[in-house]
Amino acid sequence: MVPTMGALHEGHLSLVRVCRAHCDRVVVSIFVNPSQFAPGEDFERYPRTLESDIAALETVGVDAVLAPSPADMYGPGFSTVVQPAKVAQTLEGQFRPSHYQGVTTVVAKLLNLARADVAVFGQKDYQQLAVIRQMVHELNMPTEILMGTTFRDPDGLAMSSRNRYLTAEERQRALVISRALFACRHRVGQGEQDARELATNLMQELIDGGLDSIDYAVIADGQTLESLDQIRTGAVALVAGYIGKTRLIDNVLLDPTS
Ligand code: PAF
Repeated sequence: MVPTMGALHEGHLSLVRVCRAHCDRVVVSIFVNPSQFAPGEDFERYPRTLESDIAALETVGVDAVLAPSPADMYGPGFSTVVQPAKVAQTLEGQFRPSHYQGVTTVVAKLLNLARADVAVFGQKDYQQLAVIRQMVHELNMPTEILMGTTFRDPDGLAMSSRNRYLTAEERQRALVISRALFACRHRVGQGEQDARELATNLMQELIDGGLDSIDYAVIADGQTLESLDQIRTGAVALVAGYIGKTRLIDNVLLDPTS
């Protein structure tokens, strides 16, 4: 299964290809999940493009599309939730406190509906992957979780359904996020080990490059997402911030041996 919220782009299609390489049958879900949006976030505005999504999925070949309505997923009196693990409390969890509970609950439901042996999620939502891996492990769910690498436009911008909110000028400024992350990875490649120093540089480049506000810019452990003092295997650099009214996130893996 490849769970999505629709508004599909090449990044999603690449997740479908990863899934196909591992599975006989592929189900893609398209569901803009209300419970992972807080009041005031972009739930109403989130792009809903079911017809073109299905057309795109036909080009890569999927066996079924699951596109439930909110009423299908959350019937009257629905009240069960999956409390996410501790890794959900930091970073996104600090800025979107109810978000991951909405994600874990809906992902558990979707994986159960599809009886999924394998589910593929994008690296772009790195913390989401960590939260889902922990849920599957701790709740003994029989689904193997795979990560698909982040797909980028040729200029570096990580593909996201939310990129379509950006004006041309904002999109240009948004490039600072990937530029700063790549520079951080480059410094690690050059031998920089001091994660505090790297995080300070990352933050400064985002400010200098015109990100309108920064929720976080950190170097963290790849599993716990706790901030690091020193680079180590599995370290990841993660950024969240605003260009205008649009909140964007991105990350790169930092391999000290590269
Ligand atoms: O990554 C997403 O698009 C969503 O968070 C997911 C995993 C489909 C759950 O609604």
